[in-house]
Amino acid sequence: MTLGILAALHDEVDSLVAAMRHEDARATIHRIGMRDYHVGHLHGQACVLVLARVGKVAAAATTATLVREFGVEEIVFTGLAGGVGDGVRVGDIVIASETMQHDLDARPLFPRHEVPLLDRSRFPADPDLTEALRAAADGFLREDLPTEVPPAVRERFGIGTPALKLGLIASGDQFINAATAVAGLRECLPDLLAVEMEGAAVAQVCHEYGVRYAVMRTISDRADDSAHVDFPAFLKDVASHYSDGILRRFLAARA
Ligand code: ADE
Repeated sequence: MTLGILAALHDEVDSLVAAMRHEDARATIHRIGMRDYHVGHLHGQACVLVLARVGKVAAAATTATLVREFGVEEIVFTGLAGGVGDGVRVGDIVIASETMQHDLDARPLFPRHEVPLLDRSRFPADPDLTEALRAAADGFLREDLPTEVPPAVRERFGIGTPALKLGLIASGDQFINAATAVAGLRECLPDLLAVEMEGAAVAQVCHEYGVRYAVMRTISDRADDSAHVDFPAFLKDVASHYSDGILRRFLAARA
């Protein structure tokens, strides 16, 4: 079974691509629609790695290509998110139990957030993939964090003891960086844990093709007016290590 792994930003896939090229001398690169699909093995698993780029359209186009051109039957999206739920802090990990598009609104023709003509607003993540990611993230936080992201680095970003949470992730074509926007989201989606810009688009395409999906996000900010601060540094020094370490554990456990 081939697994597709997507991310929105370079730092989130680069080391996995390097690991694939190291492990699998026969790995190939297919350029389709301005994206490079890296096809090969990681921890013995058949995988396709791809940088989707940012936003729902980018994620949907990449997901459809993964399914139609490469026959992937499972997809994992890894990346960053803004924490919105109570107690969701920078450095925490949020894994989606379900995803939805917070900016989709075709009222009065369809209820707010419902995907028109698909009769649903929320897309459950695959329980097995999600549990495997949860176990990998738990192992990473318990055993790998001290070496992967040393205390001095965590202190720089105000990360104490990171928590692992499972719940609703909402996607939209907006980088949320205002407390008022967060308050609006919390009001209409009381169970919302985190916001990002791709997960629900992947989920919708996976639903349409009958492919299993899961989303894992490292919380980089609180989606308020300090959300942009140190974003690139956080990605390089913290999130890329989370993503790499958790996916390695996830793949090793499947081998
Ligand atoms: N990804 C990381 N932080 C985000 C935010 N605040 N809004 C949307 N996507 C994000």
